[in-house]
Amino acid sequence: MVMTPNGGERLRDRRITLGVCGGIAAYKAAELVRLLVKQGARVQVVMTAAAEHFITKLTLQALSGRPVGSGLFDLDEESEIGHIRIADESELLVIAPATANAIARLCAGLADDLLTTVALATKAPLLLAPAMNVNMWRHPQTRENVAKLVARGALVVGPGEGDLACGWVGAGRMAEPPEIVEACVRALAPAARDLDGVAVLITAGPTHEPLDPVRYLGNRSSGKMGFAIARRAAARGARVTLVAGPVTLETPPGVERVDVESAREMRAAVLARADAARVVVMAAAVADFRPAVCSGTKIKKGEAAPEIALARNPDILAELGAQRRERGGGPILVGFAAETGDLERNAREKLREKGCDLLVANDVTQEGAGFAVDTNRVTLFAPDAASEAFPVLPKVAVAERILDRVAALLGVRR
Ligand code: CTP
Repeated sequence: MVMTPNGGERLRDRRITLGVCGGIAAYKAAELVRLLVKQGARVQVVMTAAAEHFITKLTLQALSGRPVGSGLFDLDEESEIGHIRIADESELLVIAPATANAIARLCAGLADDLLTTVALATKAPLLLAPAMNVNMWRHPQTRENVAKLVARGALVVGPGEGDLACGWVGAGRMAEPPEIVEACVRALAPAARDLDGVAVLITAGPTHEPLDPVRYLGNRSSGKMGFAIARRAAARGARVTLVAGPVTLETPPGVERVDVESAREMRAAVLARADAARVVVMAAAVADFRPAVCSGTKIKKGEAAPEIALARNPDILAELGAQRRERGGGPILVGFAAETGDLERNAREKLREKGCDLLVANDVTQEGAGFAVDTNRVTLFAPDAASEAFPVLPKVAVAERILDRVAALLGVRR
């Protein structure tokens, strides 16, 4: 049993919806409901049709003390516990066991039974406790589905390694109920507010360098990394201004957004706001060069291929670094380095040349890193410190690691 030191219930009156899917681990849902109720949670169980082959509604109803939902089209049930009411009232949606099929359906946004409909309609965070055969867990499709859900903010507990009901040994065993209860407590704990009130300026996305009224030079940056940092920094209490190049991403809640197109526009937007910031994170892939001349009219095909002369763009990060050196103070500077080889040497050089406090380097040729994907694999470099390398992580998780380092730097300076 999980109790606070003073014996209090750690989930008192928290409204948790537990989705139970059709896997052998469904039998553990009974113990999970018992532990959640013991912690004071108000548990609403929703079962899939397949789950009813493994455990009865009656068992879960008796343990949770309330009617179990299963049918989306059952009029009696729907009038008693409507799916939208369950969705609205949930503070946390836990799916345990989450089968490979359920994960795939959640990922695709299907809403063809009560559980998937609640999952789509609720604004509550989602906690998955996967349980399946080891090969299904390792299948690239399942990996991709889980990564997508995590990138959207889902939390995952387990699965553990061990003997599986299917006879295989390996990863796929559902986390034990006490572990899932711990994950529920963590998921419902108020978010860390370690950046409370800190003004953070973040750039994201590519820049477009105009060639004529219809054409530009650009790059493959999607802006996802910078937007993830903005989202998490705001969630941790920071006052975030996001200077975004041309991207098609939604502005994270509570973030002030300034849209720009070119490197020179980005420079102006950043320099105008950098003095008011305590932290500047340059996640944008700023174009190093622009067409030297932008034609006022569309360049016509003509006979010969046109030659495009390029001019150098200002290096915004290097300028901020130089400014800080001259003034003897200024915001904490976080830079990025997109490399295609010799990561350590290039990153250390950039860190020094641009004068930043932290450099987030990634090799964009590696799988799971780089542009337009929801994951990244980064190494963090800081002056006079060993580098810190991370495995492939969802970009939100990378954002948290970067912000942990920023919070530590702010702590050092306070
Ligand atoms: N950066 C910048 N202004 C530029 C170019 C880059 O502020 N004109 C910033 C980026 O936002 C990033 C860091 O500098 O934080 C490094 O960007 P990167 O493209 O990896 O390096 P470059 O300095 O452009 O060097 P190179 O292209 O030679 O690797």
